[in-house]
Amino acid sequence: MKKEQKFEIQGGRELRGEIKVNGAKNSALKVLASVVLTEEEIEITNFPFIEDTKRMLELLENLGAEIETDEKNKTIKIKPKEIKDGNLRGELVKKLRASILLVGPLLARFGKVNMIYPGGCVIGKRPIDIFLDGFQKFGSKVEWSDEGFKITSRQKRLIGTTIFFPKITVTGTEAMMMTAVLAEGKTVLKNCAMEPEIKILANYLNENGAKIQGAGTPTMIIEGVEKISAGNFSVVPDRIETGTFVIMGLLCKSEIIVKNCVPDHLGAVLPILKKAGANLEIGEDYIKVKKGTALKATSISTHEYPGFATDLQPPYTLLMTQAEGMSLIHETIFEGRLFFTDQLNSMGTAIVMCDPHRVVISGPTGLYGKTLTSPDLRAGITLVLAGMIAFGKTTIENVYQIDRGYENIDERLNSLGADIKRV
Ligand code: EPU
Repeated sequence: MKKEQKFEIQGGRELRGEIKVNGAKNSALKVLASVVLTEEEIEITNFPFIEDTKRMLELLENLGAEIETDEKNKTIKIKPKEIKDGNLRGELVKKLRASILLVGPLLARFGKVNMIYPGGCVIGKRPIDIFLDGFQKFGSKVEWSDEGFKITSRQKRLIGTTIFFPKITVTGTEAMMMTAVLAEGKTVLKNCAMEPEIKILANYLNENGAKIQGAGTPTMIIEGVEKISAGNFSVVPDRIETGTFVIMGLLCKSEIIVKNCVPDHLGAVLPILKKAGANLEIGEDYIKVKKGTALKATSISTHEYPGFATDLQPPYTLLMTQAEGMSLIHETIFEGRLFFTDQLNSMGTAIVMCDPHRVVISGPTGLYGKTLTSPDLRAGITLVLAGMIAFGKTTIENVYQIDRGYENIDERLNSLGADIKRV
């Protein structure tokens, strides 16, 4: 089982060469949920074969979908015709928070969903109140039990509605958008998240018959249709992987080219890296990290898109331990996303936690190899980067948490000159 695997990393290696960015986890997961909206076959290219997307495929298979995968060509085909009901049960559902994305499409197609609660995780409580409130607004009834909930549509089709999101939520926005596609009449969504993956999903659904306006802005208007079809979807390059690799180049004081990416999707991040002293050449679909960077402490606050992504906060926090001076990191989205800094401190960094949302970093500090445990995906990759710049050997346990979002990361980083063994 991958869960028991570890990484052993020898620090201090210089990197050189090019690394390609893979398809985005947080786009692939959403289009996988959308396949339930129709009976037609979809082909997805540039598909990331990571643990989270594999779990989502298993969920679809359990529901009855037929799936063909071609890992070598990063392509999958899904036939959702045989999906017969909306039962989301079992350990898989608990393991993958994104399983909540299937509820809206299943409810629209079958009028009934039975689901156990999807798990929270160490980055925060991850409530689902906004989803359940939303489904009720579309005219369905929610019944709670200790282990889950049952949602039943009160009429044959869901009814369009108006939802003002009390908090900006990415999967919440996507879930309500997908639910509205087949609802009767007009739905207005206000205070929506604006991540590029939302607009990409909306464009795909529109190409196949949906009527969604305003995706990528705070207000969306969706005219429900009776039926949508399916087609080809190419997964956009992962902006979080892109930013992580750029930060890795800076941490390793190496010249690398991050290829197949969309620098435009890092609108808030790249100027901050430049302000911190990064020497970057930014092309249309690549970012070259150049040598000669003297890093200066530069504070950040995470923010919903287009602000500084919370998913890039952990590697950026590590970067600031190598910068001259004091920086403040303010994590505004998730209350558990700075606790991994304890593990960096055990390697030698000087990070003081002011409260769960804020740390102050004094840099630069040297790091020493340690045995660490990956708490979650983004902190996990950050510990890998920390191991790569530490003196001596770092062992990272619970590599499953990293494989959830980064495909063959050890092999890909080793091809740049890193020294990472999977044991
Ligand atoms: N929230 C509620 N109630 C809800 C839903 C959300 O209070 O019903 C709160 C959350 O607790 C949080 C805030 O709203 O404080 C924003 O969370 P959001 O719902 O936007 O997070 P998410 O949609 O569950 C997605 C990504 C995360 C990414 C966040 C923020 C996916 C599958 N996940 O999560 O990605 O950090 O948006 O950008 O798209 C990751 O890839 O490592 C990851 C965690």
